[in-house]
Amino acid sequence: MPGPRRPRETAGNGSCRRPARSTGGQPASKYHATAVIDLRESWKIGPVDVPTRLVLAPMAGVSVQAFRRQGRRYGAGLVCSEMVSCAGIEHGNERTLGYLRVAADEHPLAIQLFGSEPRPMAEAARMVESVGADIVDLNFGCPVKKVTRTGAGAHLLEEPDLACRLVEAVADAVELPVTVKLRRGVENGSRACLELGPRLVEAGAASLALHPRSAQQMYTGTADHALTAELVSLVDAPVVASGDVTSRARAQAVLATTGAEAVMVGRGAQGNPWALREIVDGDGGPPTREEVAAELILFVRETVRELGERRATSFLKKFYGWYLGSGRFPKPFKQELLQLDSVDEVERRLLAAAPGAIAILERLEAEVPPGDELTLELPISIYGGG
Ligand SMILES: Cc1cc2nc3c(=O)[nH]c(=O)nc-3n(C[C@H](O)[C@H](O)[C@H](O)COP(=O)(O)O)c2cc1C
Repeated sequence: MPGPRRPRETAGNGSCRRPARSTGGQPASKYHATAVIDLRESWKIGPVDVPTRLVLAPMAGVSVQAFRRQGRRYGAGLVCSEMVSCAGIEHGNERTLGYLRVAADEHPLAIQLFGSEPRPMAEAARMVESVGADIVDLNFGCPVKKVTRTGAGAHLLEEPDLACRLVEAVADAVELPVTVKLRRGVENGSRACLELGPRLVEAGAASLALHPRSAQQMYTGTADHALTAELVSLVDAPVVASGDVTSRARAQAVLATTGAEAVMVGRGAQGNPWALREIVDGDGGPPTREEVAAELILFVRETVRELGERRATSFLKKFYGWYLGSGRFPKPFKQELLQLDSVDEVERRLLAAAPGAIAILERLEAEVPPGDELTLELPISIYGGG
């Protein structure tokens, strides 16, 4: 059963932070858009304290532990796993179970599930709870056919009854707060999220994250945060605004004009944790070449530890482009790294190109505890027995 509702005025930390809450779906005024909001303010999802108003977006093929831990270091108040298949968990798929590893310095952490049947989703949520996550997030927004044709992801935006039953089943199964991440609807121009959102909260969702693009749009066009403002005005739960937030100015504007509790940042953080620091604190400026090389090497080392060298070698290639692009390193250097088959060689080339990175890397490694010391072992039952 859904927990007792908090009055909306106390959805955050009790401070009077919502100057710009829209009413009746009307966007807030320009005056409010200029209000300065402290992104270092904490807020709550159910009993979970989220220390900043920045959430690192779940991204399939990106949100590994190394990415999440880095996000926390650079100011994200909440991080989220990529979407994890309930069917994969049910069948004990080893790779799927690997997504459930939680490091001690990730908290608060949401693990995101996708599926279309209440019972397996409730079972998967129990597993998420048992591995030590703080929040179970449900994916009602993935537009990819492979997912929607199984009845999961964005397909659920058109199946409101089933969507609510999924939330209810999960809320009944676990003590953790249940959150939902959704798109605006399936078809372009759809406003399905505005009907579904309040029902999901009624069914037990403690918070909603809205990416106000349609599934059809994929990532084209822009996120229509006027819809986020409307959703905020309709639900008694904190709303997180996702889509096209890449700078502090944009984060402030989205928070001020929507009344959302937090912004979620996805693509803007790929290979660019410094963007998170800029958004939260407004300082930092662009990193030096040495800082980029050091952070990338640390990321490579942690990912190898997490995925094993073979999987990490191909997984990491997209990150080289993200870290080294935007004029940080010459294009041919980036191309060279992409040709390399060994992560050791990647590390050597990076250090040769930015020798000053060694000192920064040593400092980072001293500050950041090694991931393997922090990873909590999964209970044996999760692997389906000994
Ligand atoms: C590569 C990639 C993978 C994504 N995977 C997921 C996912 O697993 N679950 C989810 O809810 N959203 C996923 N998203 C959507 C993001 O969480 C986010 O809502 C979207 O990218 C818009 O935010 P942005 O403009 O800050 O990137 C993904 C987005 C990208 C680019």
